[in-house]
Amino acid sequence: MSHGRAPDGRSSYEILRDHVSGHVRVLDLGCGDGFLLDLLVKSGHQAAGVDLSSADLALARQRPSLRGVPLTTGRAQELPFADDSFDACVSHMAFMLMPDIDQVAAELARVLAPGGHLALIVSSGQAGGSGSYELFQKLIRPAFDGAPPEQQIPPLGDKRTLHRDGIDEILVPAGFSPIAWDTEPIDLGGTAEQVWSRLSMIYNFMPLDPAVVRSLEAEFLTQAAKLADADGRVPCTMNVHIADTSLSQLGFSR
Ligand SMILES: C[S@@+](CC[C@H](N)C(=O)[O-])C[C@H]1O[C@@H](n2cnc3c(N)ncnc32)[C@H](O)[C@@H]1O
Repeated sequence: MSHGRAPDGRSSYEILRDHVSGHVRVLDLGCGDGFLLDLLVKSGHQAAGVDLSSADLALARQRPSLRGVPLTTGRAQELPFADDSFDACVSHMAFMLMPDIDQVAAELARVLAPGGHLALIVSSGQAGGSGSYELFQKLIRPAFDGAPPEQQIPPLGDKRTLHRDGIDEILVPAGFSPIAWDTEPIDLGGTAEQVWSRLSMIYNFMPLDPAVVRSLEAEFLTQAAKLADADGRVPCTMNVHIADTSLSQLGFSR
């Protein structure tokens, strides 16, 4: 999603970075390969990353800007940090994938200092109305639905993370204020090949038969080419949600 741009020209990662400006110690929850951490460090934050995947963290460690940045393998449900370790936490496209999400909220409240800031970007699962994302979803859905059981991906995360009231239901009992909520259309447009590559990185095709994926790609490229403008650019817009809140000044109840 690093190629995506909101109407004001920022990527969704830059939007999240700007939500925590002014905070010193910032945790990136589900940091993946460290793209957002790199932006945070370059903006002067004392950043730290945690992720389930040691493979992704190994990629993050290859970024020169992240030399010396604590990158820890761990579960959001059991954060490997002391109480009050951070002034803010960001999480880009990860919160909605996490099971036991109420436990994640309790852990965030524990590791954030009283009044600590939390900013999340979660998928809306919705296209922004420009054609090729709708086309992508229309093509891949039957492929996932019709895959044999061993290729099915079990549903990930908690559906409440996909809407405002649901996120309040998760965060408020842990001690956070009701969230501020925003929706941004992210432009992922480009050549048909670029759009395929961007969207197929966001969805997990790993369990699917590679031959099925190749035929989906071929079909997408054929149909998406018909949506291209005179310069060959295929429009693609994905809406994401931004949830922003703070922990109460009293912190979490120990
Ligand atoms: C879609 S990727 C997003 C990665 C990164 N934030 C980005 O946007 O580039 C979701 C990440 O969340 C991590 N993740 C999922 N569940 C997690 C959990 N329970 N605890 C820690 N990390 C988790 C995954 O390993 C993965 O790296």
